Amino acid sequence: MKILVTGGAGFIGGNYIHERLKNYPTNQVICVDALTYAGNLETLEPVMKNPNFCFELGDIADEARIKEIFEKHKPDIVINFAAESHVDRSIGNPGVFLKTNIIGTQVLLDASRAFGVSRYHQVSTDEVYGDLPLDRPDLFFTEETPIHTSSPYSASKAGADLLCLAYARTYKMPITISRCSNNYGPYHFPEKLIPLMVTNAMQDIPLPVYGKGENVRDWLYVIDHCHAIDLIIQNGRLGEVYNVGGHNERRNIDVVKTLLSQLGKPESLIKYVTDRPGHDLRYAIDPSKISRELGWLPKTSFDDGLRQTIDWYINNRGWWENVLSGKYKEMKIESRF
Ligand code: NAD
Ligand code: TYD
Repeated sequence: MKILVTGGAGFIGGNYIHERLKNYPTNQVICVDALTYAGNLETLEPVMKNPNFCFELGDIADEARIKEIFEKHKPDIVINFAAESHVDRSIGNPGVFLKTNIIGTQVLLDASRAFGVSRYHQVSTDEVYGDLPLDRPDLFFTEETPIHTSSPYSASKAGADLLCLAYARTYKMPITISRCSNNYGPYHFPEKLIPLMVTNAMQDIPLPVYGKGENVRDWLYVIDHCHAIDLIIQNGRLGEVYNVGGHNERRNIDVVKTLLSQLGKPESLIKYVTDRPGHDLRYAIDPSKISRELGWLPKTSFDDGLRQTIDWYINNRGWWENVLSGKYKEMKIESRF
């Protein structure tokens, strides 16, 4: 089985590759990544010498390069993690989000169709549903919740999802989509809430909390997400969307206070800063469908996952210090197979 994973030098794709090669040692995994600022070859260090792993530098929006990679590897399964993924950056510079997230998806879908892959899986986000009010804890996102986006990031991810569903229907392609809540765990780029706050606290520099810190996110340990994707690829129904999340809702300020306490750092490091424009209030996933149809439930509690994540950042200081210094860009890799 040959699995082509895009965006594998990023946070979730990188964790997925580690898990896949560990749990399916006879699979071959090809990682296609453009190595943007978010792509880090040091994340792939643990699998670089694995003979079943191959890295291909490539932009998913570059049709000629993607065709070349498909011709060379003839993948059975394609999983698209590659994306511009940071809401704040999308507010400053939407263009690259549309190019990678929408055009890149179209290029991958066309290549997957031309080469007859047996499954194309799109990794999407709960942000396509917009947000929920803070005073209605009874409301959750289901797969039937209408698309209602807030940021250029979520709009671009929604565009990609609609394209996937259109290809599934028009060309009868074997496509599945997962819409996941906020992930956290090892190898998370320190621009997102949890890794930014952990690494700032470790350096005793201020922790910038937007607004009053009352916005709510539904946190999922990244390895639980990786297992959900495997189940969807194995047994998910074609043309279907699966929400992935685990009733782990937390206010941002509570996440920050918990991690400060676990690190033994003072709350005086918290600095309330100007709110994000269009800031989504609350995300909360109803995972009934994936749980009922595929038997998936998250295994990692937020307290355990946060503890493991903090330990990882303590034990892998070199990884994030190289990101902050820019040294992570110096690492090189040869493609193989
Ligand atoms: P990330 O930003 O950490 O990694 C993205 C990776 O994609 C990087 O390695 C980058 O180099 C690569 N990339 C970017 N543009 C590319 C292009 N044009 N061609 C090839 N590679 C390119 O992102 P992440 O947090 O790992 O997210 C992975 C996927 O999961 C994304 O599709 C994101 O929308 C989705 N998602 C993320 C979360 C989350 O909490 N992080 C939650 C739900 C869904
Ligand atoms: P983020 O990790 O950027 O993920 P998303 O916006 O996709 O949910 O942000 C998570 C929450 O944390 C969000 O409500 C914004 C907030 N936040 C801060 O308060 N300060 C920060 O420096 C960052 C990056 C995020």
